[in-house]
Amino acid sequence: MTFDQTNWVWMNGEVVPWNAATIHVSAHTLHYGSGVFEGMRCYQTADGPALFRMREHLHRLYASAEAYGIRIPYSTEELEDAVCETIRCNDFASCYVRPICYHGTASLAVHPRNCPVEMVILAWPWGAYLGEDNIARGVRVTVASWTKFHSRMLPATAKGCGGYLNSMLAAREAAAGGYDEALLLDEAGNIAEGSGENLFLVRDGRVLTNDERSSILLGITRDSVIELARDLGYEVEIRTLTLEDLLAADEAFFTGTAVEVTPIRELDGEVIGGGTRGPITERIQQAYLAAATGQDRRRAGWLHFVPAPATVAV
Ligand SMILES: Cc1ncc(COP(=O)(O)O)c(C=O)c1O
Repeated sequence: MTFDQTNWVWMNGEVVPWNAATIHVSAHTLHYGSGVFEGMRCYQTADGPALFRMREHLHRLYASAEAYGIRIPYSTEELEDAVCETIRCNDFASCYVRPICYHGTASLAVHPRNCPVEMVILAWPWGAYLGEDNIARGVRVTVASWTKFHSRMLPATAKGCGGYLNSMLAAREAAAGGYDEALLLDEAGNIAEGSGENLFLVRDGRVLTNDERSSILLGITRDSVIELARDLGYEVEIRTLTLEDLLAADEAFFTGTAVEVTPIRELDGEVIGGGTRGPITERIQQAYLAAATGQDRRRAGWLHFVPAPATVAV
């Protein structure tokens, strides 16, 4: 992935050229990770670009901000417009969207007192996060030596910038070992989640996933997949998951905005199920993409279309 420096960025209420979207090195967030962010996708549909579950993503952004005492100085409607404007200015048919709200410059005391709250929206085209081939083939995963932080340490259901150092360490460790992704365990040794995605298992035709009791981010893709799987007729069980459950699973997959639905084929050299994408994973993948790209009309309520620019009558 490379950024295109001719793109545009929404920054504190204005659309500015990519290279003008800068902050000062004294910004509080740079030193302490004091910000919150979201990641959502905009898909190309027959009726134009549409954001997948934008309301839910923005709702989680406000909830994350509240968990860290950050007051976002924009309403939901203003942010919805800002996201659409960012996509429109860049003329993207599909892209990933990254709103981030952080403490800027005033003081470098740990308490961000007096630091302004600033807001930026970036967007860029982003393909398969864990590799195009792995959408069909599945990823190779390793259990991280780093434990997923417990929600008594940081609010695990919030997307706080600093919390991602935990994910970054795990992801770097996995890459250094030649794996595609890391799986983090919680303090009790149960499965938490991937460095940037939730986990699902399939066993005897049932779909299983864990919840916030395992210190996970409650993914919006996870929520969508639970609904889609039930709709496809699968029983979905939400409970604590162990490594034994994963190793005994017929199928396993990650879910997340970036990875969408990505199968897992191996854990630390042990083959999961048939060692490739399983049939239930594939059905869920298809259902997810059909919903996100507007082909599943029953899920139209999950899409927010980017309005065309207003035309000025002459
Ligand atoms: C740690 C973590 N878990 C899970 C997810 C999946 O969340 P979502 O499906 O809302 O993108 C993400 C991605 O945002 C994440 O960073």
